[in-house]
Amino acid sequence: MTQDELKRQVAAAAVDHLLAAAPPEGRLLIGVGTGSTVDAFIAALAPWRDRLAGAVSSSERSSERLRAIGVPVLDANEVVALPVYVDGADEIDGRGCMVKGGGAALTREKIVADLAERFVCIADASKRVEVLGRFPLPVEVIPMARARIARRFEALGGRAVLREGVVTDNGGWILDVHGLSITDPPALEREINQWPGVVCNGIFAANRAALCLLGTPAGVQTLA
Ligand code: 5RP
Repeated sequence: MTQDELKRQVAAAAVDHLLAAAPPEGRLLIGVGTGSTVDAFIAALAPWRDRLAGAVSSSERSSERLRAIGVPVLDANEVVALPVYVDGADEIDGRGCMVKGGGAALTREKIVADLAERFVCIADASKRVEVLGRFPLPVEVIPMARARIARRFEALGGRAVLREGVVTDNGGWILDVHGLSITDPPALEREINQWPGVVCNGIFAANRAALCLLGTPAGVQTLA
């Protein structure tokens, strides 16, 4: 199976999961992430749009796709809580901790994930790792803090590379940090968050996946 087929398979499984958990009469309000796997999820949602009250989205890209299939997109400030947030990941470990932000949407992803009771991660099997860090860790920074934050990563053994030509939906810049072996994701997530000028880092450990649907050639594996 190609990676795209695996993404479509896992997207369909996520829709089944949502519908199974939805009240039969009520309509669901969901959080929706960003990326190519989420694009497949939004496409798979299209036939079921009448079961949705709306969505809070983590990017302009996903918002446009949701509106295109007829799902109302709500501002995060209008919503008190979401039962579920569905998003992809760049890496996920056995505890549900993730590295995210390959699409530069990590800050809004963390905000929407924080509104949700459960994070459902959808990914193809290539994203499952033993230790996070092979995928360079995305960190959104305030531009004037870029060099200072890069030096802080050097002190930890990482090499921070500015993602050229990328300005986030929030006006931030992205550093991609190579060479980290993230053996304690919650501790590193907390530490980086303390550094002045960091808007958000791509470790999702405090808000990790409660469920991961992993697309494999043998079918969808469920990691809970
Ligand atoms: C965007 C993300 C994505 O979820 C992550 O990059 C995975 O993307 P894809 O589904 O295209 O592999 O964190 O900021």
